[in-house]
Amino acid sequence: MLNLFEDKKDDFLPDVDEKQLNDEQVINELWSLKKKLKDEMIILGHHYQQDDVIQFADITGDSLKLAREAAKLDHPYIVFCGVHFMAETADMLSKENQKVILPDLNAGCSMADMANREQIDKAWSWLKEHTEEKIIPVTYINCDAKLKAFVGENDGSICTSSNAEEVIKWALNSGEKLMFFPDQHLGRNTCFKMGIPLEDMVVYNPNMLNGGLTSQQVKDAKVILWYGYCSVHQGFTKDHIDSLRKSSPETKIIVHPECSFDVCQGADDAGSTSYIINAVDKSPKGSQIAIGTEINLVNRLNAKYPDKNITSLSPYQCLCTTMYRVRPRWLLSSFRAIDRSQPINVISVPEEIKIPSLKALDRMLEIT
Ligand code: 13P
Ligand code: SF4
Repeated sequence: MLNLFEDKKDDFLPDVDEKQLNDEQVINELWSLKKKLKDEMIILGHHYQQDDVIQFADITGDSLKLAREAAKLDHPYIVFCGVHFMAETADMLSKENQKVILPDLNAGCSMADMANREQIDKAWSWLKEHTEEKIIPVTYINCDAKLKAFVGENDGSICTSSNAEEVIKWALNSGEKLMFFPDQHLGRNTCFKMGIPLEDMVVYNPNMLNGGLTSQQVKDAKVILWYGYCSVHQGFTKDHIDSLRKSSPETKIIVHPECSFDVCQGADDAGSTSYIINAVDKSPKGSQIAIGTEINLVNRLNAKYPDKNITSLSPYQCLCTTMYRVRPRWLLSSFRAIDRSQPINVISVPEEIKIPSLKALDRMLEIT
């Protein structure tokens, strides 16, 4: 299980409190340090970051794009405005002499925390005892690096929400069964879209004896899904879709595949954050679109396209509170530390985890 406090103890609090600088001063200093450090530091930002932070990003993207970009950079410092697993991925894909910095070490991911290496090892041994068929493990990139190492060690791959279909296709061509973790929804939604019926999928729940499965269920299943989910995307429900269909039948509904099966089936379209952004961009003027994904992205799209009516599918604010932990003040602490050549909150994956993880990351990048 990820221990968010283990990386650094003294780096935990930002050195920029309200008594020192007000919000405006923080933003001004961020701009001036960004300019000063432009040859040393590059800033990556996930689409779910708040506007106050994303404005400083040199590169914005979904998980796949940010992983690809991290592998191409030359700056000594990569400041990652996102969550822990993304910064770990960037560290593994970046060069030896580069340092990846996560402005708040508490920016984790509740879904990633739903599967740890011990649980995966236990499930894997049990599943293998109950089937002769070859199982290929695939992990969603939203996981601890130790799980990426697991798939690397066991001839599996990593996927993101943009390339899950291609990776799962590869996995099912390489073996007879798929073990997919930690997000059951992405696994189920993608496999169903590929023509695999729900009856061929089972859910392994690590909190139950033998995952809550019988030996026969394992033998019969094509796909074994891990019982994990994103609490932000689980906030969108079929009721939200039904009530919108009644009140505004002309509104198009697009959701992220981390949403539940009912929600993805009830929506008009589903795809990663980049997919959603493209779909909104391509939609004609005057379009009404309700989106089932994190609120910062939905609000940004609404502001960017004043000629379209972009709303959240949920009346409640579906906010990723861990993404939201990266605040301008934390970013400023990171910039100041780089300026002092004493970087803080450096994410560094140990070599023994990095080597097998890279095997799986490289495989993903090759497949897609
Ligand atoms: P993408 O960036 O792949 O769309 O995934 C969204 C997400 O939940 C990231 O944590
Ligand atoms: Fe994790 Fe969900 Fe937040 Fe993405 S949106 S970082 S999956 S909790």
